[in-house]
Amino acid sequence: MPSLSERADQLDAADPLAAKRAEFDLDPEMSYLDGNSLGAPPKGVAARLAEVIGHQWARRLIRSWDEGWWTAPERVGDRVAPLVGAAPGQVVVGDSTSVNLFKALVAACRIADGRDEVLVDAETFPTDGYIADGAARLTGHRVRRVPVAALGEAVSERTAVVLVNHVDYRTGALRELPLLTAAAHERGALVLADLCHSVGALPIELDALGVDFAVGCTYKFLNGGPGSPAFLYVPSKWQEEFDQPLAGWVGHRDPFAMEPGYRGAAGVRKGMAGTPDILSMLALDAALDVWDGVRIGQVREKGLALGEFAFACVDELAPGVEVLTPRGPARGNQVSLAFDGAREVTRALADRAVLGDFRPPDVLRLGLAPLYVRYTDVLRAVRELRSCRT
Ligand SMILES: Cc1ncc(COP(=O)(O)O)c(C=O)c1O
Repeated sequence: MPSLSERADQLDAADPLAAKRAEFDLDPEMSYLDGNSLGAPPKGVAARLAEVIGHQWARRLIRSWDEGWWTAPERVGDRVAPLVGAAPGQVVVGDSTSVNLFKALVAACRIADGRDEVLVDAETFPTDGYIADGAARLTGHRVRRVPVAALGEAVSERTAVVLVNHVDYRTGALRELPLLTAAAHERGALVLADLCHSVGALPIELDALGVDFAVGCTYKFLNGGPGSPAFLYVPSKWQEEFDQPLAGWVGHRDPFAMEPGYRGAAGVRKGMAGTPDILSMLALDAALDVWDGVRIGQVREKGLALGEFAFACVDELAPGVEVLTPRGPARGNQVSLAFDGAREVTRALADRAVLGDFRPPDVLRLGLAPLYVRYTDVLRAVRELRSCRT
């Protein structure tokens, strides 16, 4: 039986994605295991931003709006679309996930006329719950929080929309989006999926599943940079009826007509509100180049294999640490470990150039971004974890 160290070396040597790591600007001394929170910078981003600032902004100035800036939210959206299983023309990039959640939730409640309830999974990422509460106060719906395992059966004829986190941010558990979508549709409710922890981690088939709306961030596994703009998926079937509450001038059918009244743009552009953040948008555009020639299936395979290897390392080196992440394939690209003192250990690991993160009450999360994480990084993290605890 090869040792963990031998296995890590063998797995790294056989990794079909190994060459991708060189496309990222990573500190060679560092094991970076927090790409589920903030992805590492692809090297092409700095050069692209220098060009955008030095040429497009400094030299072309206002003309750049007509030379690609104005259409960037849909153009970049069409680059995200294949990663979520969406045909072109259904994804727009801009604003934050929280803001897009608000737009989609209110729009979904308006479509599901006559129903008065929003279902939210009880373990949801906090912003989803907060936004649901805020949106429901405005629309007159009530929010019902349901344990995620019971979400499907909780859908009733009162349910307007079910808000689902595709991958749980704390444990990394993958939710049954196909089953939940089917259960919701069977009872006439809509589904809004939060893809923050699944986009760029695993294959997603929004069109094929018939998911009604989806949102997600681009600063985790899409490596768009801190605060990079989020995306909003509005499928063709709902674009006509999509009546979003932040109906600003950029989503107007003819913004420069400067009309007093709002007429929404045709298509997904109606999902926009105000002027897009071009620097962040084009940083994301450059970051998406690392996906050229990458199959999401390959990424998924490596993500699962990294997780398997992490479990083996924990079992051998850190008995007594609880593994919160499901060991089967129903998980995203992270391994969450619960133990006393996790907060202090996360800090101590950072001092040893192993970066993961901490989530209350006692969880160390190790993010396994397959484009740049090596098996040797995983082994190092668990070895250091053991040493910090003894
Ligand atoms: C599942 C999930 N939803 C929403 C958010 C927050 O999105 P934003 O801060 O971009 O609005 C996060 C951030 O980590 C998240 O993990």
